[in-house]
Formats: sequence, C-alpha cells, structure tokens
Amino acid sequence: MMTDAEGKGHGKLASEVAPEPVSIGSIFDLLANEHRHIMELFNAIVDTDSKTVAPALKVFSELQEELMTHLEGEERFFFSALEIDDDLSEKVLEEYEQHHIAKTLLASFNSLAVDDHRWKAKIKVLWKLFQFHVTDEDLLIQKARLLFPEGKAREMARQFLEFRGKGGSTKAVGEPVADL
Ligand SMILES: [Fe+2]
Ligand SMILES: [Fe+2]
Repeated sequence: MMTDAEGKGHGKLASEVAPEPVSIGSIFDLLANEHRHIMELFNAIVDTDSKTVAPALKVFSELQEELMTHLEGEERFFFSALEIDDDLSEKVLEEYEQHHIAKTLLASFNSLAVDDHRWKAKIKVLWKLFQFHVTDEDLLIQKARLLFPEGKAREMARQFLEFRGKGGSTKAVGEPVADL
C-alpha cells in the first residue's frame, strides 16, 4: 500500500527503494499530450498534396497504433474511474460511443486497398471525429481535474504508461512527425 513516506527511502538500501518513475505527470497532461501528437499525425496525412495515399501510409501506420492504444488506455484507466461518478457517467457513455465509432472506422482500413478512392474520405471523417471527440473530452478532463487528487491522477498516468509498456515516457510525446 502506498504511503506519504513512500519514495523517500529513509533507512532503506537503495535496492529496496522502488525507483521513482521519471517524468510521470498526471493523467490529464498525458492525455493532452497524446491528443496533440495524434492530431499532428492526422494533420501530416490530411495536409499532404500527394494524389496517392502511398506517402501517407507510413504515418498512418503510426497513427493507427497510437490511436488504438490511446483509446484503449483511456477506457481502462480514465473512463473506468469517471463512470462511477453520478454526474459524469452519462457523458462517459457518450465518449465510449465515440470511441466505438473511431475503432470501427479504423478497423475498416484493414480491408481497404490503399488506392481505393474512399481511403482519403475515411481518413478525413476519422480526423473530424477525433477533433470533435477531443473537444468533448477536454470538458470531461476539466471536470475530472476537480474530482481526482494529484496522487490519484499520477497513479492513473502510471497505469496508462505501464499499459503502453513504455515505463515512464510515452512515444506519443515530443516525437517528430515524418515529413510527407
Ligand atoms: Fe482521448
Ligand atoms: Fe477518447
């Protein structure tokens, strides 16, 4: 069980003290950073002047992975904590539905030829859905900030990162988007 004294390590050998994770902020900062990064990936794909989708495919592959991980992590470690709040549960259900639509649309790319004329249309619809979703989710994040103490918000971020398998930093933060 975690205590306030945790991490100070008084009277313990270094090997007995759990390493303090580096640069773990709150779940709110983590989600905001991921939203920014995913938006950059979308913009890189949508802004391309190329007539074919080939140049966008590399970025799309990263987008697909990042977005799916984000949606799953958010459901497991953010929505699950919010849905038990009477005032927020209805809103959280809407967010789940938006995720469901995004996942369905994402999955539809798997059976779509890259030269299919629907490819660009689909990515634009997914992009618009993501923009709408993030705006919606920002309101939820604002309310959640009032609900969860700092320690809890950091623990949620830690669990999210563990789920990502990154051990303290997200690939989603600060990495440049490839030029098309
Ligand atoms: Fe999100
Ligand atoms: Fe979301």
